[in-house]
Amino acid sequence: MNSKSSTRFALFLLVCLACLSGRALADDACTVCVCGADSVTNCQSTVTTIPTAIPSTTVLLDLSNTQINEIGVDAWAGLTALKTLNLTFTQLTSIPDNSFSDLSALENLYLSHCPISQLSTNSFAGLSELRVLRLINTTFETIPDNVYSPCPKLKALWLDYCKVKVFNDNCFTGLGELTFLSCYNSSVANISENAYSSLTNLEYLNLNYTKIQHVWPKWFTNTKKIQILYLSWTNITSIPADAFTGLTGLYQLYLYSAYNLTTLPPGLFYGLTNLTLVKLEPNYFTGYAAPPSTYGPPASPLPCNYTCKTCYGGSATACCGTDCLYCDTNNPCLTVPPSYSYYASSVEKPSTYIPPAESSVYVPPAESSVYVPPAESSVYVPPPPIDSPYVPYGNGASETAADSTTALMTFASVVVTAWALLV
Ligand SMILES: *[C@@H]1O[C@H](CO)[C@@H](O)[C@H](O)[C@H]1NC(C)=O
Ligand SMILES: *[C@@H]1O[C@H](CO)[C@@H](O)[C@H](O)[C@H]1NC(C)=O
Ligand SMILES: *[C@@H]1O[C@H](CO)[C@@H](O)[C@H](O)[C@H]1NC(C)=O
Ligand SMILES: *[C@@H]1O[C@H](CO)[C@@H](O)[C@H](O)[C@H]1NC(C)=O
Ligand SMILES: *[C@@H]1O[C@H](CO)[C@@H](O)[C@H](O)[C@H]1NC(C)=O
Ligand SMILES: *[C@@H]1O[C@H](CO)[C@@H](O)[C@H](O)[C@H]1NC(C)=O
Ligand SMILES: *[C@@H]1O[C@H](CO)[C@@H](O)[C@H](O)[C@H]1NC(C)=O
Ligand SMILES: *[C@@H]1O[C@H](CO)[C@@H](O)[C@H](O)[C@H]1NC(C)=O
Ligand SMILES: *[C@@H]1O[C@H](CO)[C@@H](O)[C@H](O)[C@H]1NC(C)=O
Repeated sequence: MNSKSSTRFALFLLVCLACLSGRALADDACTVCVCGADSVTNCQSTVTTIPTAIPSTTVLLDLSNTQINEIGVDAWAGLTALKTLNLTFTQLTSIPDNSFSDLSALENLYLSHCPISQLSTNSFAGLSELRVLRLINTTFETIPDNVYSPCPKLKALWLDYCKVKVFNDNCFTGLGELTFLSCYNSSVANISENAYSSLTNLEYLNLNYTKIQHVWPKWFTNTKKIQILYLSWTNITSIPADAFTGLTGLYQLYLYSAYNLTTLPPGLFYGLTNLTLVKLEPNYFTGYAAPPSTYGPPASPLPCNYTCKTCYGGSATACCGTDCLYCDTNNPCLTVPPSYSYYASSVEKPSTYIPPAESSVYVPPAESSVYVPPAESSVYVPPPPIDSPYVPYGNGASETAADSTTALMTFASVVVTAWALLV
């Protein structure tokens, strides 16, 4: 054999080896995924391990919709330019300590819809630039103390549909920059009084469809910048009168279909100067007058103006006297609601009319008192419901399983192109 033919033979052997060890080839990022100028995307859905040889210049690494089930040691070595890592719809079951600690520039980490059953204390260690963390529809049931502390720049945290049952005092420690926290339809049932105490910049909090039964007076002590608060479809039993005190930025409050909430305390909306939208309907308020701090019929009450702790008649700005539950035109202070007949001219007959008890000190208004309905202009007209909410960091619901045929077709086109080049 001359040297030329031996080189050919060596090459032939190499090719055969490569063909046999197909798996080794398949692990190379630019073989199993599509490498762009600074991105690696569209990986084959059959990929089971994090690909090797990911270009160090990669800024976007999308490994979503693959079978990757663990993060190996040094899996991300050298990826110091990486800003977005998408692991949505993979098979990851845990996030061991320091799993991402090589990713010093990472800003967006997507881990939604993975069967992650456990977080460790140092799961997110080293992610000092992280801004957005999505953990929607994961399965871990506890959040280790201080787990998010290594990410002081985090702006948005998504925990919708997650299975965590308790938010304790140190769940969200260190998240002073967090503005967005969404826990929609999660299993959380118990949120400690101080759980939100670090969240001094929080603007949006969604607890719709959670299992919570209490709103603690201290929850919002430090979250003075909150603007949008969702507490609908919960089993909250009561709300402390001072729960929202000082939340002067609050402008949308969703508080409806709280199954066990039968009244509202006086002063609930007092001083909330920015409050524009309050959703209280449908509800389970009982009695024949709207709860204190609201006015109108119980089935569709409207909030008193921020200038009144309690108000009466048809007007948000007709304040009752100090420390009154109810009042009317003649009585600046009543401890029980005015009689149904008083309201008869302005509101529909409530379906559940409960006559006042014999013992109640209620004195019916004198014959001469004539109810004067408020002028057209003074009626508070709530703005249209804003139910497609403020979602600054993308929409969790839109995160669906990508069509894997797209990935396969892309792969096929790469193979065809490579073949054409070779031939
Ligand atoms: C949660 O993730 C699983 C896959 O792990 C998926 O089948 C399911 O539809 C997801 N549920 C929601 C509410 O997104
Ligand atoms: C809440 O999530 C459960 C699954 O965890 C689902 O069955 C249910 O339909 C969801 N409800 C809403 C209102 O999203
Ligand atoms: C909820 O928290 C309260 C007070 O910290 C505690 O007494 C109660 O046992 C907790 N409930 C659950 C279900 O963890
Ligand atoms: C609230 O309680 C009712 C009745 O007990 C129950 O059917 C419902 O599922 C509960 N809602 C939540 C969000 O836990
Ligand atoms: C009041 O609400 C508006 C949105 O309508 C918001 O832009 C503004 O920052 C809020 N004001 C305060 C003091 O937070
Ligand atoms: C909520 O109301 C239901 C029905 O009245 C009752 O069975 C349940 O115990 C209440 N839950 C709480 C937490 O009070
Ligand atoms: C509350 O009252 C103030 C002062 O009278 C008024 O400027 C403001 O428009 C009222 N707000 C609402 C929502 O009615
Ligand atoms: C809160 O829950 C209600 C009731 O399902 C829903 O209409 C509203 O869109 C929810 N808001 C968010 C932001 O999930
Ligand atoms: C991450 O992956 C999910 C599922 O494939 C996709 O819906 C989402 O758009 C991706 N996000 C980014 C920023 O790549």
